[in-house]
Amino acid sequence: MIETTPAAAGQAPRTARVTELRVPVIQVSHLHKTYQTARGELTLFRDLNLQVEAGEMVAIVGQSGAGKSTLLHILGALDAPSAGTVYCASTNVATLTPRKAAAFRNREIGYVWQFHYLLPEFTALENVALPLLARGTRKQEALAAAANWMREVGLEDRGEHRPGELSGGEQQRVALARALVSNPRLLLADEPTGDLDEVTAGRVFDLIARLHAHHGLTSILVTHNMDLAARCTRALRLEGGQLAALATTPQMGHSAGQI
Ligand SMILES: Nc1ncnc2c1ncn2[C@@H]1O[C@H](COP(=O)(O)OP(=O)(O)O)[C@@H](O)[C@H]1O
Ligand SMILES: [Mg+2]
Repeated sequence: MIETTPAAAGQAPRTARVTELRVPVIQVSHLHKTYQTARGELTLFRDLNLQVEAGEMVAIVGQSGAGKSTLLHILGALDAPSAGTVYCASTNVATLTPRKAAAFRNREIGYVWQFHYLLPEFTALENVALPLLARGTRKQEALAAAANWMREVGLEDRGEHRPGELSGGEQQRVALARALVSNPRLLLADEPTGDLDEVTAGRVFDLIARLHAHHGLTSILVTHNMDLAARCTRALRLEGGQLAALATTPQMGHSAGQI
């Protein structure tokens, strides 16, 4: 069984977990998703299947509107499938009540979006501490864990800055620290470097890859950047409502463990 230990300040990396476990962390079977829109029914997924093993770092590419964000939302219990089963971190996310879905996300999922969505009135350190405060961790402990994560993302001297006083790359680093402060099993990143220049995007990706390996995460990254996709364990293309393996340049690809 995979334990679901609550986060604690200074918790040890999860690397051992990855080598011990070879069970799928994500198992999506026969997923269908349709939206009712003013112009009729929009079918996004038709019999979509996906299996992701512990420790994998999977890239998902696809045209705008293909359903990449919707797929991450379903995996992260932010949206519900129309049919099919979605097991994510040992949980059938389709059956969760809104309250249980919120607890599941807080415990198991680190989410990073294209835009940082940091709260402007709080300091970077407070922003990172928020997921722990939301689960009832005492303030002093939450801030100590947040300070550790600010160090992990190389921003230990920016804790008192407000988001508006940080560069785009720094804001994404803080968003990463906030996503991971609760020690989730899964990192879901939706175009996390999409709003950054090429050099900064490469650095943020390097950081994601390092945190992924060091903390034994299972990660799914939506990206338009084929170079970054090629650096993931494997890459998939979402097209026509289904996922297919995507060949990436072999000399560029390497396993997440080597990153
Ligand atoms: N809640 C919703 N209701 C209706 N249509 C939606 C909803 N969410 C997304 N869509 C539509 O589903 C399609 C896929 O959206 P999305 O998952 O955001 O694609 P991607 O991230 O690949 O660009 C788009 O055409 C979008 O307009
Ligand atoms: Mg999207």
